[in-house]
Amino acid sequence: MLIHTDNLSKTYGTGDQIVHALDHVSLDIDTQDFVAIVGASGSGKSTFMNLIGCLDQATSGSYYLAGENVEVMDADALADVRSRRIGFVFQQFNLLARTSAVDNVALPLLYARNGPLAHLDHQARIDHAKVRLEQVGLGKRFTHTPAELSGGQQQRVAIARALVNDPLLILADEPTGALDSKTSVEVLELLTRLNQQGMTVIVVTHSLEVAAYAKREITFRDGQIVDVRVN
Ligand SMILES: Nc1ncnc2c1ncn2[C@@H]1O[C@H](COP(=O)(O)OP(=O)(O)O)[C@@H](O)[C@H]1O
Ligand SMILES: [Mg+2]
Repeated sequence: MLIHTDNLSKTYGTGDQIVHALDHVSLDIDTQDFVAIVGASGSGKSTFMNLIGCLDQATSGSYYLAGENVEVMDADALADVRSRRIGFVFQQFNLLARTSAVDNVALPLLYARNGPLAHLDHQARIDHAKVRLEQVGLGKRFTHTPAELSGGQQQRVAIARALVNDPLLILADEPTGALDSKTSVEVLELLTRLNQQGMTVIVVTHSLEVAAYAKREITFRDGQIVDVRVN
């Protein structure tokens, strides 16, 4: 099991002001799954993503990622898991401007402190980044800066960057939220292809059209899972 949560809960505030942002969520996600987390605004999607992505820790309950107990990790261990195990994709791409696609993709390798991809030299990092850009169909765009790329291409660069550390999963928060419908399809088809090649993909979205690409749709309401649908 890649992801295992058991009664995972997150509360904000205390007393009368307490908010149960995540309320006893027990969920298993196998490797090679493609899951969409859906639900209305305020239903707990971002809270769940922050916990799964090791950006935050729960108030109670447990979360195991690839058999490791995330809830007992200290800040250094969490940072290591984030950089080596999880590939993040955001709505706004978060690419460095005036920096080529290949340098954007190679950047996380510079910060890899542990594991097989730590301490690569510059040329090895560039070579590795080029392989990832080819994988997302941007083999002819190595030297382009974000401003010289379409929105869909920029998000594919961001996906290549998310892949560069050979993560266990891709965690994408509204990955098509800043794209028009045509380029959205381009990005969703890429995520589908990566999943078919064996990558585990978790997409957080309020869009049912986006969710339809996933193998499973998990609906949150008031911090709880209220529906699991297999597509
Ligand atoms: N930092 C915070 N402090 C207090 N309440 C929060 C905080 N973050 C989220 N919440 C509350 O937790 C609930 C779930 O929020 P969130 O996970 O952001 O939902 P979603 O991403 O589905 O819109 C909401 O009621 C929200 O107001
Ligand atoms: Mg949110």
